[in-house]
Amino acid sequence: MIQPIYLYGSEVLREKAVEADLSKKEELTALIADLKDTLQRSEGCGLAAPQIGVSLRVLIVDGDEMQDVYPYLKGFKRTIINPELLEESAEQCEYEEGCLSVPGVYCSVRRPCSIRLRYRGEDFEEHVETFDKFAARMIQHEMSHLDGVLFTDLVAPIRRKMIAKKLVNISHGKVATRYNSKIK
Ligand code: NI
Repeated sequence: MIQPIYLYGSEVLREKAVEADLSKKEELTALIADLKDTLQRSEGCGLAAPQIGVSLRVLIVDGDEMQDVYPYLKGFKRTIINPELLEESAEQCEYEEGCLSVPGVYCSVRRPCSIRLRYRGEDFEEHVETFDKFAARMIQHEMSHLDGVLFTDLVAPIRRKMIAKKLVNISHGKVATRYNSKIK
């Protein structure tokens, strides 16, 4: 089911999400279906459970929306439950990020270029996988959500000053979204 997306200023976006209980397969399957429906409707490339008000360590990414810019992302989709960061590259890369919870704001952010994760997939099985380029970026952005961190926290201070007013406006509900959204 399509769920409203919580916007900047919502408390749930600042909470540290808790590990998903893998024995609750039905609940998790329903959550993943909601994430997929909501992401598809909003035409984003990733969504974390806290963005639909569920403070669990679950996220999805879907590269299809980005394939015009990054053709190698075509067909790249992952469901990631309880990710554990095993390694990250010392080398950092800069990409422009945006977020469905922070509409209309795009900023360059530096993060490790590649990461290695252990996680449970949609099949609830354990996977260990290395991600790089924009795939690593999408996943790191969503993993930040699980720790209550938004990409706007990570931008250079001077840039943060420039977007401060926009962020205040969003948190006051002065923003239009193409998708159903809420602030709480
Ligand atoms: Ni986001």
